[in-house]
Amino acid sequence: MNQTRNSFSGKIGFVLAAAGSAVGLGNIWRFPYLAAKYGGGIFLLVYLILVVTFGFALMLAEVAIGRKTNLSVIGAFKVLDKRFSFLGYLTSIVPMIILPYYCVIGGWVTKYLVIYVTGEGAQAVQNSFFNNFIAQPVEPLVWLCIFIGMTALIVFFGVENGIEKASKFMMPVLVILSICVSIYSITRPGALEGVKYYLIPDFSRFSPMTVLSAMGQMFYSMSLAMGIMVTYGSYMRKDGDLEQSVKQIELFDTGMAFIAGLMIIPAVFAFSGGDETALNAGKSLMFITLPKVFADAGTLGYIIGAVFFLLVLFAALTSSVSLMETVVSIFRDKFKWGRKSTCLLVLAGCLLIALPSSLGYGVFDNVLILGKNFLDFFDFISNNVIMPIVAFITCIFVGFVIKPKAVADEVLISSQFKRQRLFTVVIKYIAPICIVLILISSILDAMHVITI
Ligand code: PHE
Repeated sequence: MNQTRNSFSGKIGFVLAAAGSAVGLGNIWRFPYLAAKYGGGIFLLVYLILVVTFGFALMLAEVAIGRKTNLSVIGAFKVLDKRFSFLGYLTSIVPMIILPYYCVIGGWVTKYLVIYVTGEGAQAVQNSFFNNFIAQPVEPLVWLCIFIGMTALIVFFGVENGIEKASKFMMPVLVILSICVSIYSITRPGALEGVKYYLIPDFSRFSPMTVLSAMGQMFYSMSLAMGIMVTYGSYMRKDGDLEQSVKQIELFDTGMAFIAGLMIIPAVFAFSGGDETALNAGKSLMFITLPKVFADAGTLGYIIGAVFFLLVLFAALTSSVSLMETVVSIFRDKFKWGRKSTCLLVLAGCLLIALPSSLGYGVFDNVLILGKNFLDFFDFISNNVIMPIVAFITCIFVGFVIKPKAVADEVLISSQFKRQRLFTVVIKYIAPICIVLILISSILDAMHVITI
């Protein structure tokens, strides 16, 4: 089977593909609303610390396991130690939970692109516009189908490479445009308060929820704890510099999230007249705040809005494609089904599971699981429960079963391993202990045993 595995051509190929999977709605939509909600500067600080320690160690371990075994996640853990086969299965549940609701949000982005292109962007300035839109039963479903359809078409025809090539051009443009929009945002009257809120940590706003949400966000944004990086690692060439590549992906991913925060959080302050409750808008934050920034800039703003949502849609598609591709390959590896039929099956399953998430803001808004609507529930259970568990077991597996040296040896095949000590300490002790503490407090919180 290994002979048929294609590898990324150049050294940069791996970095680009992995960054394409990592940079997506997590950076532009999810990061800013979490940072706004969970304390601004303190969230940012915790997030950054997690990325350079824990995120680094976990991503490196995943990519190294992939490259070492040349297999995707189910096979990889099994080959390394039979007792850990279950970890492969547990990991593969995550993309199956995330993909459906990711497409719901992808659908919202598609809708926003279309209203900007058709010159109706001005409507989106009203606070109620977004909430009215997602509360409707049919329209969000139509956009969901369009977004899932695009994702499935790309996976069906196996044209991801074309998408990757286009994203080589689109991603840098997204970064540049986002920097321009954030400069515009932070120079609005009243925005400075927001810049301070976002950049200066206020320790009185710290809570276990800050760490839990930052950790969930880190997994989500860096596409960790769901087997994707193992798969990408299996495509990586043996002469690629593992440590360097991981650093580059982290830098790109975190940089994009940071800029998105700068684009959105100061604007919340500028356009809400200092009303801090606007920071709690959660999932709707990007869709409510950005239209105000674009409207403020007049006609040019609407053009920029259209280009911006196009680029975000692109970033979302590269991520949803990598999610769907992973789900398809899990079924194919397991049941030896054909590519196209698997793809259709995954499409149908995904649509079905996405339905309640899409309807959760209107028709089903009184159906709550653990106090959350469907979309929030899927988001919570994957990012804040299953992924920490997967990450925990992966740390134990690497730290005590195959031993950190196995990962280090893989890195050392092609380059030095400068942060080997950090890696070893984090993966063996710091990460597992932190995860357990955070997980326990979050479960108690979800069960309303304690309020954090
Ligand atoms: N990391 C992607 C993002 O930030 C989301 C994603 C998660 C993609 C899991 C693939 C796998 O949007």
